[in-house]
Amino acid sequence: MSDVLWFNGRFTTTGERVIGVEDRGFQFADAVYEIFKFIGKRPVFLLDHFRRMERGLRAIEIPLPWTEESFEATMRELLARTAFGDGIVYIQVTRGEAQRAHFWPEGIAPTALAYSRVFRFPGAAKKERGIAVITTPDLRWQRCEIKSSNLLANALAKKQAQRAAADETILLAGGFVREGASSSFFAVRDGRIITHPLDEHILPGVVRDRAIELALAAKIRVDERPLREPELFDLEEAFITSTTQGVMPVTTIDGRAIANSRRGEITTTLQQQFDALERA
Ligand code: PDD
Repeated sequence: MSDVLWFNGRFTTTGERVIGVEDRGFQFADAVYEIFKFIGKRPVFLLDHFRRMERGLRAIEIPLPWTEESFEATMRELLARTAFGDGIVYIQVTRGEAQRAHFWPEGIAPTALAYSRVFRFPGAAKKERGIAVITTPDLRWQRCEIKSSNLLANALAKKQAQRAAADETILLAGGFVREGASSSFFAVRDGRIITHPLDEHILPGVVRDRAIELALAAKIRVDERPLREPELFDLEEAFITSTTQGVMPVTTIDGRAIANSRRGEITTTLQQQFDALERA
């Protein structure tokens, strides 16, 4: 089935082959992407996603193809043309098309696209059951705060998780825990939440920010510091956050149970509050 696609200013479907062989997104992963969720055709945290994309594009010197207003209008029209109510929109902005060379010519026009897609968000049973994760080395580049379309290291790590019958892998580097291959990671120790600080080692997750706000409002202490690897196996609770998974309990890490493999109290509170916020 083809999905509705917005491509460089016009609407078509994903059935049309729109990308050229010399697009730098294809040749070099010279691109930034975003994913936002929509519920009942209503985009969730749309401007947070736009602003992260804007920061990423600025960091790698790709001109922004939208203003905040034109972005919002384009996404609303995309959703209006979409046949279903709930799903995700995938966006990609590449530096554009040019004869293949590492250095790009000045002034080329970016390639921008966005399409909507049905997505099966986790249901109540999964949200309670949680997920198993493994740990793998973080092989990504050193600017992970940019949502780069180069997801090779993430894809290799996720495949390893899938082969180990796990849902996610937690990336480790230099003896510290960074984040999931496609999610932010949170631990609970001594009743406090611990998560990696915002720096070049992690993506600033939109759901991460909301989860921290909710925790602080509930008077739960949040320590933004890198968790040491051995601490991973001495936790009261653990959870991941992402646009597609919301707040999701982690019940085993490398086959070892966290809190008797049950969704923890703090995780449950934040999950329920986040679900309500998303629907508000
Ligand atoms: N992933 N860290 C990484 C490496 C991610 O890829 C993602 C999101 C997150 C969470 O960010 P947010 O809360 O803004 O979704 C953290 C998207 C959903 C993906 O799978 O590409």
